[in-house]
Amino acid sequence: MAENRLDLNSLSRVNLSADRGSLVDFKSISAGEIEELLKQENIIEEFRYLMMKYECALLEVKTKLDVLNKELAIRNNRNPFESIRSRIKEPVSIYEKLKRKGLDFTLDNVENELSDIAGIRVICSFVDDIYMLAECLIQQDDIELVVQKDYISSPKDSGYRSLHLIVEVPIFLTQEKEYMKVEVQFRTIAMDFWASLEHKMKYKKDIENADTIAEDLRFSADLINQLDRRMQQIRERIDADKPREELIQFPGNNIDEKNS
Ligand code: GTP
Ligand code: MG
Repeated sequence: MAENRLDLNSLSRVNLSADRGSLVDFKSISAGEIEELLKQENIIEEFRYLMMKYECALLEVKTKLDVLNKELAIRNNRNPFESIRSRIKEPVSIYEKLKRKGLDFTLDNVENELSDIAGIRVICSFVDDIYMLAECLIQQDDIELVVQKDYISSPKDSGYRSLHLIVEVPIFLTQEKEYMKVEVQFRTIAMDFWASLEHKMKYKKDIENADTIAEDLRFSADLINQLDRRMQQIRERIDADKPREELIQFPGNNIDEKNS
C-alpha cells in the first residue's frame, strides 16, 4: 500500500497473504520508534487495521460475557462476575514478546504466533462461577475453543491460579468475516489480588533472597486458595438455608420441578 489512504479491499487481501516480510531487526525500541518503523515499511495502516480487528473481537466476547452476567444475575440472584477488564496489547509489548520467542516482528507472526493481543480479565467472586461462565461461553456456537489452560486445578510453580481460555470469535466487517483470537482469563477476587501483587513485586529489581520470597508467595497462594474454597462453602451453606420463597423462580429451577 503506497498511499496513506486506508483501502479496505487491498488491506483484506494483504492481511490474508502468507508471506509478509520482516519489518525490523531486533533491538531495544520505544513506542515512537515502532510507529516510525511501521510508517517506513508502509504497513502502519495494515497494523492499525489488524489492531482494529482485535478490538472488534474484544467487543464481541465482552458483550457475550455481559449478556451472560445479566441473565445469570436474575437466574441465580447474584452476579457471576464482579468486574471485567479488557485491553489490546501495546505495540512495544507485542514487539518484546515476539523477540522473546525468537520471532520477527511481522504482521503474520503477530496474528499466527501470539494469542493474547486481545485480552479480557473476568474477576469472579467464587471459583464455581468461573467454571460455569467459561462453560457457558465455550458452548456458544460461534465460539471456537482453541486452548484451555486450567491453572486453578494445576497452579503454576509460582503459585499463580486462573482459568485461561484462548477462543476464536467471528467478526463481521464490510467485506469479510474473520475469526480472531481472544485470551480470556477468569480469576476470583482473591486470585486477582495475589496475581496483581506478585506481578508488581516480580518487576522490582535486585530482590535478595529470591528463593525464600518465591516460597512465601507460593505459600500465600495456597492460603488464598483455601480462602476461596472456604468462602464458596459458606455461600453454599447460606444458599441451602435460604427460605424457599426467597429463591427466584425460573424454568428449570429444581424447586419448581419438585412441585410440578
Ligand atoms: P505470556 O508470555 O506471559 O503471555 O505467557 P504464555 O503465553 O506462555 O501464557 P501463560 O498461560 O503462561 O500466561 C499468560 C498470562 O497469564 C500472562 O501474561 C499473565 O497475565 C498471567 N500469568 C501467568 N503466569 C503468571 C504468574 O506466575 N504470575 C502472574 N502474576 N501472572 C501470570
Ligand atoms: Mg500474555
